[in-house]
Amino acid sequence: MKKNISLKSHNSFGVDVISKEFYNIKSEDQALKVLNLLKEKKIIILGGGTNILFTDDIEKPIINIKIKGIKIIYESNNSVHISIGAGEVWDEFVRWAISKNLGGVENLISIPGFVGAAPIQNIGAYGVEIKDVLISCSGFLIENLEKKKFKSIECEFSYRSSIFKKSLKNKFIITEVVLKLSKNKHKIHRAYKSLDDVIKNKKIKNPTIKDIGEIVSDIRKYKLPDPSLIGNSGSFFKNPIVSQDTLTRLKERFSGLVFYKENRSKYKLSAAWLIENCGFKKIKEKNVGVYKNQALVITNLGNATGKEIYSFSQKIKSTVLEKFDILLEEEVNII
Ligand code: EPU
Repeated sequence: MKKNISLKSHNSFGVDVISKEFYNIKSEDQALKVLNLLKEKKIIILGGGTNILFTDDIEKPIINIKIKGIKIIYESNNSVHISIGAGEVWDEFVRWAISKNLGGVENLISIPGFVGAAPIQNIGAYGVEIKDVLISCSGFLIENLEKKKFKSIECEFSYRSSIFKKSLKNKFIITEVVLKLSKNKHKIHRAYKSLDDVIKNKKIKNPTIKDIGEIVSDIRKYKLPDPSLIGNSGSFFKNPIVSQDTLTRLKERFSGLVFYKENRSKYKLSAAWLIENCGFKKIKEKNVGVYKNQALVITNLGNATGKEIYSFSQKIKSTVLEKFDILLEEEVNII
């Protein structure tokens, strides 16, 4: 256990707060031992720190999950099941999968964070979500240390959400994730417009998973700031899901509105468009702003505090609410 350490290198916003009690966890056994010790205390579980905003020093013990390991646990003619330790870096895993010609996660390349955090918010990008390839999540309940395995269907996945963000929020530690990837006859997901545009521009007839990985990686490099250079946590808010009535009302007033059909009766609005159209690409406050190529990304332009970032995010929220009558919901966990 470490005492009073700075969390600056443990969060992609680069916010400098102090953790009073910090535990590095490298195995499930170690996790069980530490949790037994901390029985009565409320804890914070930390992965790569890429989807979290610390607004103050942290008194509660922090459990940093660093459980490693990638192994193929089942193989058929067409697919493999891979067990991955929650502390593996997601992007390193994706690049490993592509290098072994295993398909299914290439659209999710370059997403920061650890593998164990990926199912919690059902990470998604360029037309694919982790739920599309997930077989199970294992770990244990913090309350009684009971081991549990959730099959995909039991994870209650939806857009940027899962059971681990709802009824099991802060109650379950994920130690292992099992994914199913294809060995051949890969299904190529290219429908997302900005991805398809690049494939067409490059005149690639039949893109491979390697092509998709390279193209998505390039798009992300352009759209999203590298957290090692500019502190950020990817999309700060979710794209709001609205009814047909709300959409019609907004379209009448705002002709350029960007939206997508989510299902039979719901539509997803582009939060980036709403934020940009409130003028936020031109507003900075105390070293906090939004990214020039993606308004949904709030950036730390140098030594901003968590409170300053939070206060800027709330200004975005209230401005969008006032202008569009849409309440944005945070994607980032605020602590
Ligand atoms: N747009 C703007 N202004 C901007 C940026 C985008 O108006 O500054 C409009 C454009 O019309 C653009 C559209 O929004 O075509 C969509 O933009 P983008 O493709 O970047 O997607 P997004 O909906 O803003 C979502 C995810 C991203 C993910 C991309 C690609 C959420 C909250 N965010 O962003 O995920 O990479 O799609 O699939 O769903 C993350 O979760 O941290 C993240 C980066």
